[in-house]
Amino acid sequence: MKLERFSSKEDLYTRAVDIIVNAKNDGATTFGLATGGTMEPLYAKICETDADFTNCMSFNLDEYVGLSAKHEQSYAYYMYKHLFHHKPFKESHLPNGLADNPTEEAARYESLLQQYPLDFQLLGIGQNGHIGFNEPGTSFDSLTHLVTLEESTRQANARFFDSVDEVPTEAYTMGIQSIIRAKCILLIAVGEAKRTVLERVLASEYTEAVPASVLTKHPNVIILTDLQKEENEQ
Ligand code: F6R
Repeated sequence: MKLERFSSKEDLYTRAVDIIVNAKNDGATTFGLATGGTMEPLYAKICETDADFTNCMSFNLDEYVGLSAKHEQSYAYYMYKHLFHHKPFKESHLPNGLADNPTEEAARYESLLQQYPLDFQLLGIGQNGHIGFNEPGTSFDSLTHLVTLEESTRQANARFFDSVDEVPTEAYTMGIQSIIRAKCILLIAVGEAKRTVLERVLASEYTEAVPASVLTKHPNVIILTDLQKEENEQ
């Protein structure tokens, strides 16, 4: 894992855009994308560039169960609003939050991912170490599946809804195995709330109790953070 620390968020996001655009210019055509607060400034910056993704395909990490693509809190809507509206891809895929049969929907999405292996995967990280919606304890061998969201994750995401009661209780997520098949992974950890979990990942723990720790064994991971070393750290 390669770690880069930034004292300014502006510089961090500029670097993130460079990494993504360079990957595209080097031939990446399949991109795994993420949502959440961390990604909003990134997508805003990508929209300011003249990068053209119309020969690329995107696959989002996750989607809430029960929300249609038109629902303002769905990840399909988020992606349209923050990125695809301004930077269309040739094809953009997300799990279908309204699918009738969750098992079939997870299998459909996983088989798409296997058909179009990811050249590049963008990740945020949850305070509990989740990547996608793979909560602590998820098997490192997991494929796309339906998850029951942890209360802490629903609380963390409640800021995007009118109240925590409106946050769906379930979601589809790429599995950890689906994520780490990507050739190159960029993880962005911004804000003090991510310090403890980032330290655990950087300490090279490798445990299903911290889903993001799976990245320690991936050959091509870049982590960008605005967190500086604490004074007592080496
Ligand atoms: C979103 C996703 C999540 C977020 C994580 C951090 O598609 O996969 O794992 O990346 O919850 O969210 P923020 O950026 O809102 O702190």
